[in-house]
Amino acid sequence: PAPGWSVDADVVVIGSGVAGLTVALRCAAGGADVAVVTKACLDDGSTRWAQGGIAAALGEGDTPEQHLDDTLVAGVGLCDEEAVRALVTEGPDAVRRLIATGARFDSDAATGEILLTREGGHRRRRIAHAGGDATGAEISRALVAAVRDAGIRIIEHALVLDLLEDGDGRAAGVLLHVMGEGQHDGVGAVRAGAVVLATGGMGQIFSATTNPSVSTGDGVALALRAGAEVSDLEFVQFHPTVLWLGPDAEGQQPLVSEAVRGEGAHLVDADGVRFMIGQHELAELAPRDIVAKGITRRMQETGAEHMYLDARHFGAAMWAERFPTILAACRAHGIDPVTEPIPVAPAAHYASGGVRTDLRGRTTVPGLYACGEVACTGVHGANRLASNSLLEGLVFAERIAADIAASHRPAGEGVPAAETERLVAPETRFAVQRVMTAGAGVLRSRESLERAAAELARIEETADKAVEPGTDAWEATNLLLVARVLVAAALRREETRGSHWREDRPDRDDAAWRRHVLVTLRPDRT
Ligand code: SIN
Repeated sequence: PAPGWSVDADVVVIGSGVAGLTVALRCAAGGADVAVVTKACLDDGSTRWAQGGIAAALGEGDTPEQHLDDTLVAGVGLCDEEAVRALVTEGPDAVRRLIATGARFDSDAATGEILLTREGGHRRRRIAHAGGDATGAEISRALVAAVRDAGIRIIEHALVLDLLEDGDGRAAGVLLHVMGEGQHDGVGAVRAGAVVLATGGMGQIFSATTNPSVSTGDGVALALRAGAEVSDLEFVQFHPTVLWLGPDAEGQQPLVSEAVRGEGAHLVDADGVRFMIGQHELAELAPRDIVAKGITRRMQETGAEHMYLDARHFGAAMWAERFPTILAACRAHGIDPVTEPIPVAPAAHYASGGVRTDLRGRTTVPGLYACGEVACTGVHGANRLASNSLLEGLVFAERIAADIAASHRPAGEGVPAAETERLVAPETRFAVQRVMTAGAGVLRSRESLERAAAELARIEETADKAVEPGTDAWEATNLLLVARVLVAAALRREETRGSHWREDRPDRDDAAWRRHVLVTLRPDRT
């Protein structure tokens, strides 16, 4: 569609989580004219749902080197060590700058020192938290307030359709569809010489996920259509402990933070047996993929639909003070964690892969950057270490802002980088979710993935494509594209590594597969 309106900026940021808002603030502080566009409202993304916290070597005796070691172990040979080094060494100061921006972390009343907890894969207490278990909500509050105070232009309810590129193939802005009344209504363009994708994840390709309904892989889909390279899409992380709401639960599910295990909760089966003991030296605090596999295996062995997280020994006061969000969510569903174990099962949580970037956040399309969950910077490898994602958003946002300041060019005349494809009907979303959960979930095989690929191809062929353009249709179209590329990547990786668990290839194959699965839909560009 032709844009009916356009605005000009130096930088356009797509998305308003920790990554997007931090890029916007840092670019604006450097004098750039920034526009933030976001699909729903400013605080509707995944950031505000983050519970456990943000990992950084802030504690006495902890060092970036130890944080690096834990991150590399969790990533099972596929982390980019230089990217991890940037994350862990720049992380502590990035957290301090977040505090200076207004975020308030839980701290010791007497000493003022930030309180730190543990989560899976961390050999030390290194997770800063806020409001007990409402870390993301506090970070989101502080960043939204700072962006509003800085007078940064915000366009809400704006679904990004496609990248605009100039005659040299450089990003020149984005085409948007703004829903509803207002100054910018309908299809329009933001023209900018630097475009930052900070659109978050894609958890909604599965039936049950911790992600909010807006996490539909829009940034990865846009980047694919624009010809950018994506990497590691097969590594979807399943959070081990999501409140189990029944076999047919769909959509966003309540998270039960790893910090609950960090403070001493036990995973048990229906007989009360702590089945993680003996599976890993860290037992319940093993890296997340190992715990998710341990739970899934035990569910298979015992025929149970879920396991239990037992933290009755915390007592009522500790539950109320340390984990108020989780306590309220459990009670809202009729479970009282003070008196009974919590039923839990794994659910889709985080995309460790995404749009491939270098250490400055540049994608393979000049002028296009990616930051946060949408990006694959190399820090997560085959399995993200708990609480490294908010940190990645902060650290790489600052790197991107520095790169834009050093290399900015004004936008050229832009045209859409992709022919806007025909959209599939909104209901396609649920068909995609069912196929992905059945064939490409926590446990996969060649057979299940081939079946998923065939079903997705059939969905694509038979989908009603005579649909009105709107957010739901665009989201379904994006989910279908991302699901198809993800399944193709998972079929290619013929081994088990990190969060990619192939039943038919149960072993890690370092000789063949200590490498990335890279995908581009426009090989002429790379
Ligand atoms: C949690 O609180 O368990 C989530 C932490 C994360 O995903 O990094």
